[in-house]
Amino acid sequence: MKHDLVLKGGKLVTANETFIADIGIKGGKIATLGESLDGYDVINADEKLVMPGGIEPHCHIAQESGMGVMTSDDYETGSISAAFGGNSSFVPFAAQKKGESISDTIDEYDRRAETKSVIDYSYHLILTDPNQDVLNELPYAFERGITSFKVFMTYATRVTDAQLLDILTVARRHGGLTMVHAENHDMLSWMSNSLTQAGYTEPRYHAPARPGIAEEEAINRAISLSKLANAPLMIVHVSTPTGAELVAKARMDGAYVFSETCPQYIFLTREDLNKPKLEGAKYICSPPLRDVATQEALWRHIAGGTFSVVSSDHAPYRFDESGKFFNGHNVDFRGFANGMPGIEMRLPLMFSEGVLKGRISINQFVALSSTNAARLYGMLPRKGTLAIGADADIAIWDPSETRIAGEMHDAMDYNPFEGMKIKGWPTTVLNRGQRVIDDGKLHVKPGDGNFIYRGRTDLSGLTGSSLPETEPKTNFGAEIFK
Ligand code: URP
Ligand code: ZN
Ligand code: ZN
Repeated sequence: MKHDLVLKGGKLVTANETFIADIGIKGGKIATLGESLDGYDVINADEKLVMPGGIEPHCHIAQESGMGVMTSDDYETGSISAAFGGNSSFVPFAAQKKGESISDTIDEYDRRAETKSVIDYSYHLILTDPNQDVLNELPYAFERGITSFKVFMTYATRVTDAQLLDILTVARRHGGLTMVHAENHDMLSWMSNSLTQAGYTEPRYHAPARPGIAEEEAINRAISLSKLANAPLMIVHVSTPTGAELVAKARMDGAYVFSETCPQYIFLTREDLNKPKLEGAKYICSPPLRDVATQEALWRHIAGGTFSVVSSDHAPYRFDESGKFFNGHNVDFRGFANGMPGIEMRLPLMFSEGVLKGRISINQFVALSSTNAARLYGMLPRKGTLAIGADADIAIWDPSETRIAGEMHDAMDYNPFEGMKIKGWPTTVLNRGQRVIDDGKLHVKPGDGNFIYRGRTDLSGLTGSSLPETEPKTNFGAEIFK
């Protein structure tokens, strides 16, 4: 068979194996894995690593934050930056406004994405107003191929424990995954008020205002709620060793609990918040940056399998009045936009510091950067692996290319990881067999990315957590989860 495109002689890496082979692509899909394949077009991948394209599963694009600030990146700049960072698809958030129906939220994000994205995309639906009408409408999101929901346990957009139970239950019924931002709101408010009333207002006090114990308490509670509903839960951006231990324990018990951490928690510390002249505001994100001991513990949990995913939590707010200073400069730490960019840095950082420094294997790198996200968010085996019949979403990496991190392709005016020496960069990224990035250039146009219709979360390997009080056999026959 003559293929549309052949990737020749590369070292192929999946979440499980590493082997030398050609990849033959036809009609946007992987058609053949073999030797001496024939193609109308050929990319020489000698000395290169050929991996599934990254799937960025946590990023904020063309989205108003809980504080009402629009991200600097839209689907064009955000997807271009993602692609230069080795991703061939991404899943940003579609954020429901209070009072808005699910169908209106999805329609709005379709308008924001469909003529702009250069790579394939889907959305997680952020639920801020889960009233009964919205819960009744949730099955419609599944019909549209949107099978994951995010809720906050803090911010004005937070949900109550009862609301979280309701969402978990509906999501479970349809095979979806509920994602949670876990910080105890009252603990944060109390600490923030105590600090500001005593005059501690600079950006650096963002870190003590959001103590690790507030995350630990909320993670513990979220896991308990997930166990009560026996429903899958993804705890996003875990930033504390104890939080990670709680997740590891729940998984050991078989509970449907998943988690992710992010590069900022393993490469930056709260000392970055202490930079002069409001520079610290660049490093305000929530949960906040911690310390070196935390970095080491989180690496152990990455290597040990606690975290299914390392995501960027790319939340791009420029260092000006459009972003960080949307409230002006003369405010306390609560008044700056929360979040930092990282969509283009996530995979190079994890490759350079993770794989090349021996902290994780190259196969773990693939699992953490694409395969596990595809499995959890209903995209495997179409995306996230190098298998016959899968979309030809592929990243070719040069493991020897060394660059100092500087300006990225996003719409940001700073890079929190600037100046780091990074070895190993993606040189070619394909989405459904089309070159998105090659030779340092973009080869597609806005709108070439397609919406990804997603399926159920894969829960295999976990047993769930049936409690005696929710089991008809031991609760006098009551059917709670009909
Ligand atoms: O500070 C952050 N991470 N901002 C983005 C919104 C969120 O909570 O994920
Ligand atoms: Zn969050
Ligand atoms: Zn986020």
